[in-house]
Amino acid sequence: MIALVKRFLLLLDMMLYPTIVCDMTKSHRRSAYMSSRPTKSNLKSLGYEVVEAFTAHLEPRRMSALSARLQRRYAEKMRSSKECMLPSFNHTLPTGQERGTYLALDLGGSTLRIALIELDGRSKGRAGSRVLHMSVCQINNAIRRLPGSSFFDWMADKIVCMLEECPFYSDGGSNHPLSVGLSWSFPVEQISPKRGKVQGMGKGFCCSEQTIGRDLGGLIVSACLDRGVHLQIDALVNDSCATLLSRAYSDPCTSMSLILGTGTNMAIHLPVSSLGSSKLEGRQEKWLSEAEQVTVNTELSMFGKGILPETRWDDILNRNHTLPNFQPLEYMTTGRYLGEILRLIIVEAVEKAGLFDGRLPSCLQEAYSLDTTILATIEEDTFNTGKSAAYLEKTWNMDIAPSATEMVFLRLAASSISRRAAAYIATAIHALWVVERKASGATEASRTTIACNGSVIERYPGFRRMCQDYIADIIECDTDECLRNSEIVLQMAGDAAILGAAVAVAMAKDQS
Ligand code: BGC
Repeated sequence: MIALVKRFLLLLDMMLYPTIVCDMTKSHRRSAYMSSRPTKSNLKSLGYEVVEAFTAHLEPRRMSALSARLQRRYAEKMRSSKECMLPSFNHTLPTGQERGTYLALDLGGSTLRIALIELDGRSKGRAGSRVLHMSVCQINNAIRRLPGSSFFDWMADKIVCMLEECPFYSDGGSNHPLSVGLSWSFPVEQISPKRGKVQGMGKGFCCSEQTIGRDLGGLIVSACLDRGVHLQIDALVNDSCATLLSRAYSDPCTSMSLILGTGTNMAIHLPVSSLGSSKLEGRQEKWLSEAEQVTVNTELSMFGKGILPETRWDDILNRNHTLPNFQPLEYMTTGRYLGEILRLIIVEAVEKAGLFDGRLPSCLQEAYSLDTTILATIEEDTFNTGKSAAYLEKTWNMDIAPSATEMVFLRLAASSISRRAAAYIATAIHALWVVERKASGATEASRTTIACNGSVIERYPGFRRMCQDYIADIIECDTDECLRNSEIVLQMAGDAAILGAAVAVAMAKDQS
């Protein structure tokens, strides 16, 4: 419903566009600049161009065809790839009866969370977990840029700090290392349930540059030892797998997860036989004989190149990125990039269409200086109440607030960017769901719950609904009747990654 209303408002904005643009001629305040800048028609036509470039192809049949192409790409990477479709060591999902109190770490793109978590088994009406103490540390650009071991030193300082202030923790002089579950929101090449090698990191993090291929747990443990704290990483999971584990702990019907925040990813529980043998090289006979299914970190963010249509602003973003082409889907859909896409559109509108009298607010000059929360604020002010204009004037330190016309332009751009993001995520989800159904030989209609976590899917106004609606639209185009009668439900799973890290340690303990 919300999505429908938004679609309607987007259309309304476009219809009102000429009127509002005409109103602008009544404004005296810009006359000096308007005489030299072709503001009216250029801003209007750029607005149409943006809407067209981002949304014209978002119709169900086209998206269904894009999904089919993604399905083929996923299947290829399931056969062989060192970068994506990475099997974990979890070959079962939690029983829901895992118990104990564990220290869990969750390194996300914008926060490091450190928590002491108690699991006491799910039962009717109870989640079965309790966060006894949690510390949340923000990660700014300076921290993202810390090289190699300096980043792990920063992490260790925060861990020591949290343990010092946690009323539930006392090492009691024990010589035993503290058992830890780690959720890592970056690719990692797992070599055992507890160990993995650092791989290239996106989201602006630099610490992998000098540590690629090194033992991730070892880097954290040794930085903590230097500070007198003895840890032992007993479970290492990607945040997508952690989210799947935590939701499956409280709801056994969950077999897929989605992260959509600073970055994006999905995890999925697949038959081992659907993966190429190179994917399982080096695994012990015991693991291979026991495992029928395995939780796979898809590294979904890396898909989409050459399949999902891109605009000229995506192209600029990609070319200026430190890792061009590394995570095409992420660059078009996540919290780290949505704001930057809008900033690039604004830069062009200022230069070529006289937006803001042809002057770019100085705080928008640097790449990544437009936060995605600003995009959300612009889009949320659907009735152009002036609230968002006043907000921008203050946030961007402007001499005068953007005019109504400018706000319409900004809102059209913001909603086109977020709409496309929702549609691409929906397409990627649909494609993975079809691959999973085929791999597991499903022949009946089903209802699949996807555990969702991350700031964009949780908090961007109307995003989850829009994504859910697009998924339903694509399913309607499926030629297979079984698929057409099936349903995918996006279910929020708050604090999922950190809870999942605790569930992963509990599972590791039960299995050892
Ligand atoms: C990383 C994934 C992670 C995802 C969500 C991506 O940038 O490559 O490993 O799961 O972000 O945090």
